[in-house]
Amino acid sequence: MDIHKAPVIIIGSGIAGLLTALKLSDSGIESIVVTKTVLKENSSWMAQGGIAAVLPENHADSIELHVKDTLIAGAGLADESVTRSILAEGQLAIQDLIKLGVPFDRVDGKLTFTKEAAHSTQRILHAGGDATGRSIQDTLIYKVQHDPHITIYEQCIATRLLVHDNRCYGVEALRYQDGEWVEPQLLLGQHTVLATGGIGRLYAQTTNPPIATGDGIALAYEAGAKIQDMEFVQFHPTAFWADGQVRFLISEALRGEGGILRDKAGNAFAQQYHPMGELAPRDIVTRAISAQIVKDQQPFVWLDITHLPNKTIETRFPNILKACQSFGIDIRQDLIPVAPAAHYGMGGILVNTQGQTTVQNLYAIGEVVSSGLHGANRLASNSLLECVVFARRVSAHVETFSEILPIDILSTFPALNATQWQAGGHKLLNHGVDRIRKMMWTNVGILRSQSSLSAMLAEIDTLEQEAIEHNLFSWVPLGVEYRKMLLASRLIAQGALKREESRGAHYRLDFTEALPHATHNIQQMMRRQEVHF
Ligand code: FAD
Ligand code: SIN
Repeated sequence: MDIHKAPVIIIGSGIAGLLTALKLSDSGIESIVVTKTVLKENSSWMAQGGIAAVLPENHADSIELHVKDTLIAGAGLADESVTRSILAEGQLAIQDLIKLGVPFDRVDGKLTFTKEAAHSTQRILHAGGDATGRSIQDTLIYKVQHDPHITIYEQCIATRLLVHDNRCYGVEALRYQDGEWVEPQLLLGQHTVLATGGIGRLYAQTTNPPIATGDGIALAYEAGAKIQDMEFVQFHPTAFWADGQVRFLISEALRGEGGILRDKAGNAFAQQYHPMGELAPRDIVTRAISAQIVKDQQPFVWLDITHLPNKTIETRFPNILKACQSFGIDIRQDLIPVAPAAHYGMGGILVNTQGQTTVQNLYAIGEVVSSGLHGANRLASNSLLECVVFARRVSAHVETFSEILPIDILSTFPALNATQWQAGGHKLLNHGVDRIRKMMWTNVGILRSQSSLSAMLAEIDTLEQEAIEHNLFSWVPLGVEYRKMLLASRLIAQGALKREESRGAHYRLDFTEALPHATHNIQQMMRRQEVHF
């Protein structure tokens, strides 16, 4: 067993994890960053539309307007004071990124802003046209790789948090290579930061990368942390559809720049569903497209940007243009086949305004949290902003202590040595992963009901039983991930079953109205000293 120590252990190499490491380094604090696959595989790298922020040069905008838009999208569950404080830091957040070298798009030297659904003005900064995430991540990756305070472990999967008496001492992780595990690791830190991203891969149709399997939520829940509002899953209205499935995101910015949704016959239809048409809140456009898909008896609708000048398409959406071309669609002259897909988890680990979870010395940051900003439905492009603001806050809050471990770690967590890890994959595991993703899409997707949710929970029971019988959870790395997927799916389905109303992104066919009072849905496992595999 390898044991490594650092003042701060960060799990995840998206914008949240990397920026936290860089900010800590600015104060001379060392950290270890572990990441499940490689530095670049994460949602951050794939972000297209941009990052929302109110900047002084944008005279049409104000913090209050941004707060108002965010609260409306949040459908009664976004916390007003938390929201105001996060959005008020937008300018500082953008300044940080510019200082690090992020090349935001400019015209004549001035930053340019675009619009996305439910924003009342143009306030979204972008980079590389539609490659905002890649531009930010490439900048951060270069910096962390050259920073002597930061140690990076790639292909290192966190298996459980080391929590004793409600205090976190780090994480147990497994390094692997080509599907073979190399060595269990104990990464011991005074502070541990979960920055593990979202849950999109629990669904068969998703815009998310393979790493987005809800690991951080499962890790925190097993460690006794409070989890909030898991039922709120945002389905993006427009992902590219080809060969029977969703392939990649078609940014909302295309609709922001004038893209029109068309039905099978070529007629614009969005206005029939909401007066804001293509730029209505995401959940409304998603349900409108789903309804249209049923009406048209075709698994997608069309998105039309052919009326935009070729030059605009080429400079604003160079990567989407290229990706569609690889499927034989030239978006300058062809309509784009699009369908909804799981995109973002609003729920997650409950944190306060400093990113602290309910477990001592355990922070969480980024898509894995429920901070009070997104409520029941996230306003587009608010998530990258949230990551940057909390990277600033968590790093400022962390203090170092000279003595890292006041307890005897191996005798406190005796099961650490007991697990018999096995290498490689397993046919049953792949079958189980497939099964969850299909069932989650059908039963806990855009439309839910008591019967679909109960069926999902029964299926999870069956899959869990089968996994235990066949010892599937000890296979590295897929078995480790599978265990987290089952737990995260269970938390979403349980939350959705409990919430007997429709609100924001959560739509119940059997409870179609919102209740008069918005309430949060908190889940917490009875704390155990030990979590056995
Ligand atoms: P991620 O960037 O997803 O990083 C998670 C990290 O955790 C990864 O490095 C992963 O390997 C690691 N990890 C996970 N589990 C483990 C484990 N068990 N052990 C070790 N490591 C682990 N938001 C916007 O604001 N604007 C946009 O334009 C935008 N566009 C988007 C486009 C797409 C296609 C997608 C998918 C999302 C988009 N979003 C956008 C959402 C936004 O990108 C994400 O919410 C945000 O990047 C999340 O950052 P993060 O650092 O929290 O997580
Ligand atoms: C998009 O570009 O449509 C995604 C933006 C987001 O999810 O915030």
